[in-house]
Amino acid sequence: MLFCKSSVIKLGGSFITVKDSLCTVNWGSLISAAEQLSQYVKEGGRLVIVHGGGSFGHPAVKDVIKEKGRMDISGVGYVQEAMLSLATKVFKVLRAYEIDAVLHTTHTICSCETCSYESVIRDFKKGLVPIVYGDAVPCNDTFVVVSGDRLAAEIASELGVDCLIYAVDVPGILINDKVVERVKVSDIIDLVGGSGDITGGMRGKVIEASRAIGKVKRIVIVGGKENGIIKALRGEKVGTEIVG
Ligand SMILES: Nc1ncnc2c1ncn2[C@@H]1O[C@H](COP(=O)(O)OP(=O)(O)OP(=O)(O)O)[C@@H](O)[C@H]1O
Ligand SMILES: [Mg+2]
Repeated sequence: MLFCKSSVIKLGGSFITVKDSLCTVNWGSLISAAEQLSQYVKEGGRLVIVHGGGSFGHPAVKDVIKEKGRMDISGVGYVQEAMLSLATKVFKVLRAYEIDAVLHTTHTICSCETCSYESVIRDFKKGLVPIVYGDAVPCNDTFVVVSGDRLAAEIASELGVDCLIYAVDVPGILINDKVVERVKVSDIIDLVGGSGDITGGMRGKVIEASRAIGKVKRIVIVGGKENGIIKALRGEKVGTEIVG
């Protein structure tokens, strides 16, 4: 029987895009993710998929700040367009791998940083596989970026799924070049790097992931390659487990 009967999987932008090449999908990684998730669904797994910005969303935010000096409200659509372009590619590939995916545009479910997940939960309960993604959301006279890391932790907590899995381009949290098997957030937070992007890199991910501690059975940060996602979903010891 599957260890994670239900789960929220965050496909990191570091995994599904080529981070140093503008608006470039890492097709090999995206297809590998789709194959693993399709296998998970065939084994009876239920899931919500969240994805990050990678070389689509993060450079768009930086462009707006460079041009306007701040996250000007008129830049919100520019970021949304970049994210929607990545989201439709993810949507298409998942559907091609026979996953019953449906797309939820984040800027319509979130107001500033507060999001309501009724429509996501409705579709999940219908047996569909909702896709949500980190995005720019209007907020007063500016915009905020709601990260995929945060959305994943909040949706996992609200649904009370078994597992919250963050797939990235590294095999887990590395300390002195070694993957740490299990960590307490408070023990490692100072050892984990930010990345200079708006959502705080690995440090931001660990902080956001910790929102779901005690609400899900397991939280894992795992390398998406080499079947890392499906192994984590089957309860195998891969990546780094985050504990309270
Ligand atoms: N201690 C650490 N262990 C592992 N990775 C780390 C560590 N410190 C910093 N990193 C970096 O964090 C990156 C993952 O965070 P990043 O935000 O770049 O990816 P992501 O969340 O998958 O992408 P996105 O934010 O676009 O969704 C890794 O590629 C790695 O370079
Ligand atoms: Mg990130």
